[in-house]
Formats: sequence, structure tokens, C-alpha cells
Amino acid sequence: MTRTTEDRPRDWMRHSRLKGLVAIVVGAGSGIGEETARIIAANEGMVVVADIREQAARDVASAIVAYGGKAIAVALDVGNEAHIDAAVARTIREFGQLDIVVNAAAVVKAGPLETSDLEDWKLSFRINVEGAIMLARTCLPHLRKSTHASIVQVASLAGIGAYPNGGAYGVTKAALIALTKTMAMEWVTDGVRVNVVSPGTVETPLMRAVLTPEVVQHRAARIPMERLGQPSELADTIVFLASPMASFITGQNLNCDGGLSQALMVQKFNPDL
Ligand SMILES: NC(=O)c1ccc[n+]([C@@H]2O[C@H](COP(=O)([O-])OP(=O)(O)OC[C@H]3O[C@@H](n4cnc5c(N)ncnc54)[C@H](O)[C@@H]3O)[C@@H](O)[C@H]2O)c1
Repeated sequence: MTRTTEDRPRDWMRHSRLKGLVAIVVGAGSGIGEETARIIAANEGMVVVADIREQAARDVASAIVAYGGKAIAVALDVGNEAHIDAAVARTIREFGQLDIVVNAAAVVKAGPLETSDLEDWKLSFRINVEGAIMLARTCLPHLRKSTHASIVQVASLAGIGAYPNGGAYGVTKAALIALTKTMAMEWVTDGVRVNVVSPGTVETPLMRAVLTPEVVQHRAARIPMERLGQPSELADTIVFLASPMASFITGQNLNCDGGLSQALMVQKFNPDL
């Protein structure tokens, strides 16, 4: 069935943006996913806080509930189909519906192409690509029933340009962007929008674990806005794409990067131009 603007409810603007909608956020125990879960709850959405680290998921869900929001925590490895099945079943049991899926989980494996361990490549594809497929298609039957169905993936600028010494990560993020576009077109007539946000460098525990302070400083100096992104800025972008405010947007990648992806011809960063 092809949905049209006529059968899309038009009264959501009278309420908080996500009132009555149920979201599952994977990788919500920290960083960008955590902020996304918090902002969804602040917009009166109900949130399933899913993370491979159960205690982290519980802490975030408890903080949302203490603030007056609605949230539950689930332990979930996005690379494990049985975990996904259980988490989606629990979502339906608790909230009766599913409208929004955000996938912010990722594994980051470094190493040059010539010598990097193929097991790292396999794990990267399992978590960053196959996990996204398994999560989305398990949620799909429930999303088809929603009038505001939306999936938002979190990729990376590493999937847009070259990422030397981070090949397994960059290649899987490029695959995730391509996957998003195919999902969007295969499911467009189901009324399910699918988009992807590609962050530049964002101040999160993942970024601090992977990059040295010197690399962070060097990167910040090359960002046209001359600073790193904050998790809340990425979360606002994700929530916008997930929300009915983006009702005519599907199949898109949005770089949220302080202008970094557009700096190629900026003389300040390339003095030889
Ligand atoms: N921080 C950055 O600079 C940056 C840049 C580009 C892209 N990203 C992307 O943004 C997303 C979020 O990253 P972040 O910086 O907030 O990281 P983070 O480490 O702060 O949060 C990631 C969360 O995902 C969880 N997680 C990891 N593997 C999982 C799995 N298999 N199943 C379920 N949960 C799992 C972790 O426990 C953690 O809570 C990732 O997809 C990352 O690749 C981040």
C-alpha cells in the first residue's frame, strides 16, 4: 500500500514532537545513542534503551524515568539475532507498538589494509552492517503498522571519504550508507522512512578511546567550525530525521560535521589552493 499525505495524521504539531511514539535506540548506553534516547524522551516519546552493556542501558533508562520520561532498558548485542528478536518482542509487550528505530552501535577496529586482521573485518561487518540489517528487518513488520515509521542509522565521515588505517571501520560505514539507501527504496511504499547521519568527530567515550588527545586537537583545528561536535548536536539531528518533522525525507545521508566534509576547497585548510 502506498501512503499519501492525505492519510498521514496532521495533528502531531499540537503535541510534543514524539508524543505517543515508541522508539528503540541501540547503542543507547553512551555517547550519541544515550543523548538520542534522552532527547526522544524529552519530546514525550517512549524509549527502549538498548545496549550490549546492560548496566549502562539500565542507568540511562533510570535517569530518563527519574526525569519523568518513559523508558525501559534491554541488553542487546546488535550482532546477535536472538537478542534482537527478544528486544523487539519486549518492546511490543511493554509499549504495544514500534515507530522509530535508531541504530547507533558500532565496533571500531584500526589497522592498515596490508596487515589488518581478517577477524576484525568479520566482526566489523557483523556488528556495523549485518547488525543493521537484522535490526531493521526484525522491526519492519511493526514499523509497517505505524503512521510515523522511521529508521535512522549512524554512519561516519569515515564512510564518505578514505579512512587510512581504519579500513574495516570506514568500509563498513560506507556499506551502512549504501544499505540505508536501498532500505529506503525497498520500504518506501510501506511508509517506512530510512535515513543515515554521518558524524564528523564528536566528543564521546568512543572518540576518546580511539583517538589520542594530539589527534583530536589536530582534527578540531581542521574543522571549519573549529570545534568538535557534541553528542546532543548529533542526537538533535537524528531525532529530527526520526520525527514527523522530516516526513518527506528518505534515503538521505546527512553529514553532521561542523563543515568538515566541505573543507576541501577552503584555503585556510589547504594553503596551496
Ligand atoms: N564519536 C565520534 O566521533 C563518531 C564519529 C563518527 C561516527 N560515530 C558513530 O556514532 C555512533 C555512536 O558512537 P559514540 O561515539 O556515541 O560511541 P560510544 O562508545 O559513546 O557509544 C556506543 C554505544 O554502543 C554500544 N555498543 C557497542 N557495540 C554494541 C553492540 N554490538 N550491540 C549493542 N550496543 C553496542 C556501546 O556499549 C556504547 O554504549 C557509532 O556508530 C559510531 O561509529 C561516532
